[in-house]
Amino acid sequence: MTRTNDHLSINPESSCLDAYRSSIATQISSSLGIPLSTAYEGVDYGKKGIDFTVAIPRFRLKEKPAILADKVVSEFTPNEYLQFITRDGIFIHYICHTTNLIRTVLKQIFTLSKPTGSHPHGSYGCNNSGSGKQIVIEFSSPNIAKPFHAGHLRSTIIGTFLANLFDANGWKTIRLNYLGDWGKQYGLLAIGFHRYGSEEKLTNNAILHLFEVYVRVNKDVENEKENSPNKFSPTNQEAKELFKKMEDNDKETLDLWKRFRDLSIVEYEKLYRRLNVRFDVYGGESLVKEELIMESLGKLKSKNLLTKKTERESRIGAAALAAEAISDEQDTGDDDQAPDALALDFDQYNLGKPVVQKGDGTTIYILRDIAGARQRYQLYNFDKMIYVIGDQQDLHVRQFFKALSLMEEPFADELEHVNFGKIHGMSSRKGEVKFLSDILDASKEAMLDQMKKNDEKMKDVTDPEYTSDEVGMTCVKIQDMSAKRAHAYTFDLQRMTSFEGDTGAYLQYAHVRLCSVQRKVALDGIIPRDNPDLIDTTLLIEPKVRELVFALASYPDVVKTAMKNYEPSTIVSYCFKISHLVSSAWETLIVRGQETELAQARLYVFQCTRSVLASAMRLLSLTPLDRM
Ligand code: ARG
Repeated sequence: MTRTNDHLSINPESSCLDAYRSSIATQISSSLGIPLSTAYEGVDYGKKGIDFTVAIPRFRLKEKPAILADKVVSEFTPNEYLQFITRDGIFIHYICHTTNLIRTVLKQIFTLSKPTGSHPHGSYGCNNSGSGKQIVIEFSSPNIAKPFHAGHLRSTIIGTFLANLFDANGWKTIRLNYLGDWGKQYGLLAIGFHRYGSEEKLTNNAILHLFEVYVRVNKDVENEKENSPNKFSPTNQEAKELFKKMEDNDKETLDLWKRFRDLSIVEYEKLYRRLNVRFDVYGGESLVKEELIMESLGKLKSKNLLTKKTERESRIGAAALAAEAISDEQDTGDDDQAPDALALDFDQYNLGKPVVQKGDGTTIYILRDIAGARQRYQLYNFDKMIYVIGDQQDLHVRQFFKALSLMEEPFADELEHVNFGKIHGMSSRKGEVKFLSDILDASKEAMLDQMKKNDEKMKDVTDPEYTSDEVGMTCVKIQDMSAKRAHAYTFDLQRMTSFEGDTGAYLQYAHVRLCSVQRKVALDGIIPRDNPDLIDTTLLIEPKVRELVFALASYPDVVKTAMKNYEPSTIVSYCFKISHLVSSAWETLIVRGQETELAQARLYVFQCTRSVLASAMRLLSLTPLDRM
């Protein structure tokens, strides 16, 4: 649970605990003669068993903290929010009024979990801090005709989470996929298609077919190089010329390329839909406007940011840039005679000399990023833009951010790079993973195997295909978001699909159990009441309930914390915290066979718990299941 002060915007209508904190702040402020807001900032979550704690020294007052603490204690008056306090030296610990806490928190959750026009799944946990502001989040961004690798998967998962998070914080969010769809390799792809392509295969599965074609034509290039004394490849040369034609707007080449692109998008969309991921815009390197690229180049020149570089120098620099880089533009080995390239002169910033334009005038990845950012600003006038890209491209991102800042672009300070570590060992039974669908199929299969091992769980499942697919994807996503983003991890199908430990399967199961209790008691005629005022929450006297309810109450704060650190793990940990709390509550909070009022009250707790867990899961882009 969050223990920081992420709750400075006080809004009891969306976060019940704010009212309790305010009450503490009011008393502190009057005892110590400090402003209410200062006092409010000093209210922290307490350790286990304590709701809130105030550390007196943090206010930096003249008088001794111990004396001030005495004063606070002697002036404390219990009220509808606060039941009592204890003192531990200079720390004051507050315990909220238990029955009021349980009643108000559950009522808020129940009420705010109702669907509304703007929040189809309810708004509990959401806030308006971003209201009126607009953000562009770029994520996923695979390369057409190339494998959808682990980095793209992480970007997709983390990016979707971030977009959902910004939505929950009231921002207007634009989800942008920046496809790798431009460069010499697409000239090569077109040649490959003329040689090996099939219209039928292209329409059936563009991603797969284009990849096959691309691999084959690359083989041609390799063979030609091997068999030529000076490593010359006519195919490669042809590809360069074709790409030049594309950059010069040649209709026929562009038409073919556009079909590759469109059909690939159709295919990607199916996969994204399966992953519960969506985009507002499919951009791409190809869509960065030529004029803007040229204008950006001009601006870089006029700001004196450019230097000349021989092709050999630029290749060495590029190799150091990123082992797994995106652009194959950097791996051409046959340009020794080419005229000098233009590079950013960033040695003084320790950012090297990245090439922006090749000797033959064709543009490079980084220049398209520089111009692309400007284009997006013109289009969307964003307040903030986030790039979700793996840490192998840290240097590249620092370079183009620096360029934009030296160009004095008005939005340069509003750019953020959300990075993440590598995934190791991602392979399926069929071998090295090339396609997103392989990863998803593999986890689905592994899940189905797990489910078959457990008859008890299997018997409730009406649609094992759908269920294993959803749970499988939950497993992939949870594994990905469990640790801090920066951590690299090893993809482990077996472990991640287990029901033991904090896995996606366990999480879905926790949600399913909360749904099933409702189905089971319905058989006894206990139907949830629609009016929370008709529930007698004073019957909820177990310490377990209090602990659970307090954790549910902290959800709006947890969302705010995640917004500060951009860490999906904050939400994942919260989901498991709630799951563990309910799982330990089942034995004490029995619903079946209890007298009606008690059964209703307990059912109400589980119903609210289910809503909060489902919201947190949705924030992570998961689809909470009713049965499995
Ligand atoms: N297509 C690139 C790759 O596969 C990722 C693009 C990252 N975004 C950007 N604006 N450079 O590595």
